[in-house]
Amino acid sequence: MMRFYIMTLFPEMVMGCLNTSITGRAMAKGILSVEAVNIRDYAFNKHNSVDDYPYGGGAGMLMQAEPVYQAYEAVRERIRTGGAHISEAEEVQEKKRPRVVYLSPQGRTFNQRMAEEFAEEEELILLCGHYEGIDERVLEEIVTDYVSIGDYVLTGGELPAMIMVDAIARLVPGVLHNDVSAEFESFQDSLLEYPQYSRPEVWHDKRVPDILLSGHHANVEKWRREQSVIRTARLRPDLLEKAELTEVEKALAEEERKNYEEKTKFSVE
Ligand code: ADE
Repeated sequence: MMRFYIMTLFPEMVMGCLNTSITGRAMAKGILSVEAVNIRDYAFNKHNSVDDYPYGGGAGMLMQAEPVYQAYEAVRERIRTGGAHISEAEEVQEKKRPRVVYLSPQGRTFNQRMAEEFAEEEELILLCGHYEGIDERVLEEIVTDYVSIGDYVLTGGELPAMIMVDAIARLVPGVLHNDVSAEFESFQDSLLEYPQYSRPEVWHDKRVPDILLSGHHANVEKWRREQSVIRTARLRPDLLEKAELTEVEKALAEEERKNYEEKTKFSVE
């Protein structure tokens, strides 16, 4: 069971999303647990406010250090006492600091390799900032990883946190129906996935490629691999640097890249 704790000012936003579909099913099956921790519950003044003006002036408000810290301490306590019975060996384990990811455009850009690494953790704390950010001092004390989901600025860390949970959760054994399906797809070998088809055989005058109807497994696999190489060469040639290709595949990729560039010369980039 992998446990996610999302520290946020908008718990309904994250839970509404993650309770749905595949992550929701995995939670119901007990393979995954996602808890949203409302930072506002740890406000320390009677107005329940958790933000204040930045010293030195400037636009906007900052989330204050103390409510974030108290919420973090509460999550740590929950992690420590989460299991019904804790053995001595586990007790030692429990003392280790959980990883705390702060979602921020200043972080390392999230990718599949990072998703795989995070999927090894027993629990993961995701900290979502709002307003103009969070008082630096609490970040220094609790954050272990700074992660961005891309070079653009969002209004808060909630959407990025949901994206991370989704990408990581689907790598946890049992979350997907078909355990092999997480292995053979985009980015695994730095290649994009091949095109797929389902019934009917003909749709809008387009036929499913004959080879897929042939029942010849080895030929199907060969075709799919070629299609992956072709697609990657066309759409994401930057990925090919990391892909392990045979000489024949390299030639195919180069050919495709050239032809495709020729055809799409006028597209935006
Ligand atoms: N918060 C605001 N923008 C973000 C981004 N691009 N990635 C992660 N967290 C963010």
